[in-house]
Amino acid sequence: MKKNIVVIEGDGIGPEVTKQSVKVLNAIAELFNHEFVYSYHLMGADAIDKTGNPLPDETLSACLKADAVLFGAIGHPKFDNDPSAKVRPEQGLLRIRKELQLYANIRPINTYAALSHLSPLKEDRLKNVDFIIFRELTGGIYFGKKELAADGSQASDDCVYSRAEIERITKLAFELAKKPERKQKLTLVDKANVLETSRLWRKVVQETATQYPEVKVDYMFVDNAAMQIIINPSQFDVVLTENMFGDIISDEASVLSGSLGLLPSASIGTGTAMFEPIHGSYPQAAGKDIANPIGSILSAAMMLEYFGMIEEAERVKEAVNWALNSKIVTKDIEPVNFYFTSTLGEMIADYVSGKIPELNKKENIELRKSTII
Ligand code: IPM
Ligand code: MN
Repeated sequence: MKKNIVVIEGDGIGPEVTKQSVKVLNAIAELFNHEFVYSYHLMGADAIDKTGNPLPDETLSACLKADAVLFGAIGHPKFDNDPSAKVRPEQGLLRIRKELQLYANIRPINTYAALSHLSPLKEDRLKNVDFIIFRELTGGIYFGKKELAADGSQASDDCVYSRAEIERITKLAFELAKKPERKQKLTLVDKANVLETSRLWRKVVQETATQYPEVKVDYMFVDNAAMQIIINPSQFDVVLTENMFGDIISDEASVLSGSLGLLPSASIGTGTAMFEPIHGSYPQAAGKDIANPIGSILSAAMMLEYFGMIEEAERVKEAVNWALNSKIVTKDIEPVNFYFTSTLGEMIADYVSGKIPELNKKENIELRKSTII
């Protein structure tokens, strides 16, 4: 199969981690006889520096024509502490989500036995944790009218949802929840005791639920959900929520796995789909070859699944599991005996190609490790 992939490396550690995904995708292409054609484009702080625009027109038009977008990370500290900055890197990401109509952001949360010691939770709470957050991505408070009084004394952000916006992601979430590999459970996270938009979400979910009698539905206020994710995370299966709540609880849930650097995401909708790790640009690590590429590599695996390349995606996931179980990990996981970003990417790609473990005996693997003395 031939696929045209737009690669947006973005800011901070984005370029380093994305390069590892491309290595892994190339290994898959070779093994399974696919042709992946990459074209590289700008977005974020990098794009502002080079063009003045966080999402240049040519990036957007390339994305609209592509089969998928692989994206690294966005953001730079020089904009974070300047509330009056007119142009911000994040505007590029928000605009691309809107333009590509990426209304569903899918963030799977699971844990790895080999890493349970890194999780802030006790080991027994991590058993059977396997849930998927469906975060609405093109509506709500992120995209409502924003106002700042001329004298700076007041500001507002409107939170608006149309029934149609809620319906389309709700259907998608139910479709997944009913699949045999899931637990047939859907939890709507909202704040229906306070917000009108949340009450509309509940109404739509209740109505949609009648078409999915096999799926058990429950409703949870977001403040309670924030607590339940910590005290009893294995109760969740498919978690459906609006934009802002989804942003917050997905960062919270990501720590269950032991490192934010491990988690992938897929943003899908009516246009070209986009795949990105959930971590940010982590500027402190940029250029040091220490960031964890697994969030990006697993995002590439989600892209393969989206292409219908199921066996290929499984192979990538198996390679990642092999690396984690063999303690071939980056500094966020193993602060002393760690592997560099680029080495881990190569080794995962080598595993995909079948060169490991035959060619790389334990001693050779040890040689590639960095040890701080
Ligand atoms: C995310 C990020 C973005 C968001 C930022 C960078 C605008 O935090 O993808 O979760 O808030 O959606
Ligand atoms: Mn976020």
